[in-house]
Amino acid sequence: MSDVPLYAVFGNPIAHSRSPQIHSGFAEQLGDAVRYDARLAPVDDFQGGWRAFVSEGGRGANVTVPFKQQAAVLADQLSDRARQAGAVNTLMVGDSGEVIGDNTDGAGLLLDLKRLEAPLADARILVLGAGGAVRGVLGPLLATGPSELVVANRTVEKATALAELFDAMGHIRGCGFEAIEGTFDLVINATSASLAGALPPLPEILFNEGALAYDMMYGATPTVFLQWAQRHGVRCVDGLGMLVGQAAESWYLWRGTRPDTTPVLEALRADLR
Ligand code: ATR
Repeated sequence: MSDVPLYAVFGNPIAHSRSPQIHSGFAEQLGDAVRYDARLAPVDDFQGGWRAFVSEGGRGANVTVPFKQQAAVLADQLSDRARQAGAVNTLMVGDSGEVIGDNTDGAGLLLDLKRLEAPLADARILVLGAGGAVRGVLGPLLATGPSELVVANRTVEKATALAELFDAMGHIRGCGFEAIEGTFDLVINATSASLAGALPPLPEILFNEGALAYDMMYGATPTVFLQWAQRHGVRCVDGLGMLVGQAAESWYLWRGTRPDTTPVLEALRADLR
């Protein structure tokens, strides 16, 4: 076993994960030597992959598709935000060998939105989609104190169920796309429609002046949603910064230091082009 602390990202597939590059960037910037691997686990045996990793001295890991629920089951303890998100994206081994599960996706999004000086407090926020990605970010978004948060989804029941789940935290409402009312300061696309090159059916008048359109997906070219928002003249940002943000929050849990995300994000952006 080497003295260099060992971390990893688990997924299936995993070959194209950007996490090793991001964490190497943090390690270099902070002068904190760690090893960070990409690990492929069998779809039905995340636990086996994790145990092998821990026996090699692994201290913590990021967890991505399709293991976020399996990681929550495996953890001995869950943070409040992992419980709230219903998923784990960060694991760490505690002092007594216990496995702690956390979720940094929401905090990562918030870190990026703050970097962008996005409208949050007293803002009207619209979130498109009601899947796992949305569940992880509603708590942190509501904690910023928006005047209203609307969750709109193709399957209306999923949006209303999420709104009910988070009702105690602030003004939140769930609806279908056709029932979206009013205009917004921040619109976040968390549907996977962009993957299929599709756009949710959105009202033509959606944005307030100075609004920000944010897509949780990222790529070399803007998503269909961001292209649509660009045509409406608003500021558009993709989810690459959220990816770096959630990694920075995981790094903080493991190493206790806060990397500067900007240079790492810039290097990643340059590689995407
Ligand atoms: P994730 O974990 O990334 O959120 P998910 O749980 O599969 O993935 O959720 C995908 C989200 O994208 C859902 O909100 C889904 O809408 P439904 O709940 O109605 O399935 C949404 N979605 C996927 N394809 C879509 C499309 N073509 N148009 C609109 N919404 C779409």
